[in-house]
Amino acid sequence: MTTLPRPGRTFPAAFRWGAATASYQIEGAVDEDGRGRSIWDTFSATPGRTLDGHTGAVAADHYHRTAEDIAIMQGLGLDAYRFSLAWPRIQPTGAGAVNQAGLDFYSRLVDDLLAAGIDPVVTLYHWDLPQALEDAGGWPSRETALRFGDYARTTVEALGDRVKVWTTLNEPWCTAYLGYGSGVHAPGRQEPAAALAAVHHLNLAHGLAGAAVRDVLGEQGTLSLTLNLHVARPDDPSNPQDVDAARRIDALANRCFLEPVLDGRYPVDLLEDTAAVTDWSFVRDGDLEITRTGLDVLGVNYYSTQRVRHYTADHARSMADGHGASAATPWIAAESVEFLEQPGPYTAMGWNIDPSGMTELLTGLARTYPELPLMITENGAAFEDDVSADGRVHDAERVSYVARHVDAVGQAMDAGADVRGYFVWSLMDNFEWAYGYHRRFGIVRIDYETLERTWKDSAYWYRELVRTHALPPVEIAADLA
Ligand code: FCB
Repeated sequence: MTTLPRPGRTFPAAFRWGAATASYQIEGAVDEDGRGRSIWDTFSATPGRTLDGHTGAVAADHYHRTAEDIAIMQGLGLDAYRFSLAWPRIQPTGAGAVNQAGLDFYSRLVDDLLAAGIDPVVTLYHWDLPQALEDAGGWPSRETALRFGDYARTTVEALGDRVKVWTTLNEPWCTAYLGYGSGVHAPGRQEPAAALAAVHHLNLAHGLAGAAVRDVLGEQGTLSLTLNLHVARPDDPSNPQDVDAARRIDALANRCFLEPVLDGRYPVDLLEDTAAVTDWSFVRDGDLEITRTGLDVLGVNYYSTQRVRHYTADHARSMADGHGASAATPWIAAESVEFLEQPGPYTAMGWNIDPSGMTELLTGLARTYPELPLMITENGAAFEDDVSADGRVHDAERVSYVARHVDAVGQAMDAGADVRGYFVWSLMDNFEWAYGYHRRFGIVRIDYETLERTWKDSAYWYRELVRTHALPPVEIAADLA
């Protein structure tokens, strides 16, 4: 099903090209200007949680290098920059008075971006929960959603005169199921019922923050939510049990977020599948009216696909879901499902490369929600980059990955999907969560000794794409500097 990118494929003039990052992954400066502690500070400082004990304490030191980083974005010609706000910089304990120095940092960043002609696309939450809120129960507790609503309102009031695009949450799937199910992400809990409570409280948090965006900005605001929707394909589409395995994963991964937000309900099959784990009584009267914000644009993060099969228990269960190894599963009440190894090629994350999944995902969304505009808020790849003797990073694999996926977006648009933009993950190498600095996703290299920034070939190639709004041939990447 994979096709080679069509060089010369063009994109509409209004299509937005951007790059994405997240606060904890790039900022560093974790103890500066009154920032409170986040669950990722705690988690990464706990032995055995991240590869080689890496933490985000310095990361790409973006906190001190915003001018240099904005100059890079300007050099790339980006229309927009997607970044997240660290809640504990703005509200150190997740409640109460604002830490003005933290808010000022983002206010200056926004001003500087606008002055450089780059639109800020802000995510309110990309996983760095104030530790004090986790200590009080974290996302399985309803209170966290209420606190998030307050934080969102304060922040939108402070920055909304200049920031128009607001994404409430990044990948709540990861927050709920990797944070509280498998425990490979902060806070590292392995409590299936709590993971499902977290799902609901994240949806509720989205709804409360969404109301803040609508109240403060009205028609001027663009409300968004970014999901890592899973393309879970049945191993044997003619086998009803494999088809049911894919249905179950679709409910747990995708519809449990899409439906409360877009349709004001939880999928009946999800409630049935998980009935032995929870009765969902944490969903209170009126909650689904709050979660049902609708969206001005849905953010889609896409990296790879999953292949699922009904598990027959006569062999060791394969769990090649791409979400890291753990004794506990992120897939609650899905013991009857196994995730099969897939054909390569793979990225350094071990994720299979399959651009057809991008097209399938976007066209599927366009079918189910024909009125909903879509934006690719993350797509990219980690590879083992080396600096060559010529001082350059010839990351041909990343160029090819991005080219093929951008082409796949174009194919979905040809088929009628309303896609408004594409943000490459990531602007620069950064702290890749449990993998620390051992995975590099940037189109710009970070030397973690000197913190020097170096454009990789993929950055030059991306600049050409942004400049021309047409897919450049991948072969020219090394000659574009
Ligand atoms: C996504 C995250 C992002 C980054 C990429 C590789 O799940 O949103 O922070 O880690 O994966």
